[in-house]
Amino acid sequence: RSVPALREIFAGSFDVGAAISTQQATGPEADLVKRQFGSVTPTAAMKWTATEPRPGEFTFGDSDKIVNFATSNGMKIRGHTLVWHNQTPDWVFTDDNGQPMTPTPQNKALLLARMSDHIRTLVERYRGKITAWDVVNEVINDDGTLRQSRWYQIAGLDYIRTAFTVAHAADPAAKLCINDVNLTGPSRRDAMYDLVADLLAEGVPVDCIGSQTHVNISVPSPAALAASIEKFAKLGVDQQITEMDMSVYTDNTSSYPTVPPGLLAQQAAQYKALFAVLLRYRDQISSVTFWGVADNQTWLSTYPIPRVDAPLLFGTDLAPKPAFWAIVANP
Ligand code: XIL
Repeated sequence: RSVPALREIFAGSFDVGAAISTQQATGPEADLVKRQFGSVTPTAAMKWTATEPRPGEFTFGDSDKIVNFATSNGMKIRGHTLVWHNQTPDWVFTDDNGQPMTPTPQNKALLLARMSDHIRTLVERYRGKITAWDVVNEVINDDGTLRQSRWYQIAGLDYIRTAFTVAHAADPAAKLCINDVNLTGPSRRDAMYDLVADLLAEGVPVDCIGSQTHVNISVPSPAALAASIEKFAKLGVDQQITEMDMSVYTDNTSSYPTVPPGLLAQQAAQYKALFAVLLRYRDQISSVTFWGVADNQTWLSTYPIPRVDAPLLFGTDLAPKPAFWAIVANP
């Protein structure tokens, strides 16, 4: 049977994207991406370690490849990510005496200056080409407290305020997102709501909440997903599903030598149920991005432990899986 394109099936509802590495911008996977997806996100090429490994030394080889691939094929681009506690070089948090920064006003000023320079350089470089930026990533803990990252310890909430303000000045048309994991969990969901409400009240230019949506074949429930979307809708901000994938495991320790076929059927049912929710809230959601292209390459093959996983819509042979057919039957 002929394989329909996600980008066309969901065209009336939201953009459908895939996260890609530089290698996936060429070869068979690039062909699949061009056929299926209307948007790409670099998995690593725009992270701080990749773009500014040493102070003021910017390296854009990898991210330019992905940006050129997308723009020459008419795809949108989500920028990921400007400020994060991971994949950020240690020099960023090292003071002028070569010591790890302690929370002093001087270090705060230095850290915010470095952050502002980094954000300005990336966002201006791709101004007009990037539809949405994940400005800050994973700033809230599972229990709803603010993550005590080095960013927060040294600069408090000012790092978030400054990041959005600087990004907005560098590209006023880009949608600026605050991105986080597990936003269906009530504590983090409610904390995100409160944080964004406060930021908006202060006039901080937050346009969008990005929900990573790394799920598994039984969690979250469609009702929990719906509840988080409904809650964020009250803020009046755009919502984007930024990193969707679905592990066949429901814990951090099991592993199968190969994935039992029954689990792929269960996965198809869960994908269908969650997509039904996303479609119901299509007016709130402008894009849905998968964290990868096909099961031959997924970050879940090393995280949380090395194991065979199958979280995406296309198999290791790049062919559509039951989950693909289940969601294209949806609209
Ligand atoms: C992951 C990438 O997929 C890996 O290739 C990399 O080694 C580590 O980061 N949440 C995020 C993403 O916001 O940036 C992470 O991406 C996955 C979890």
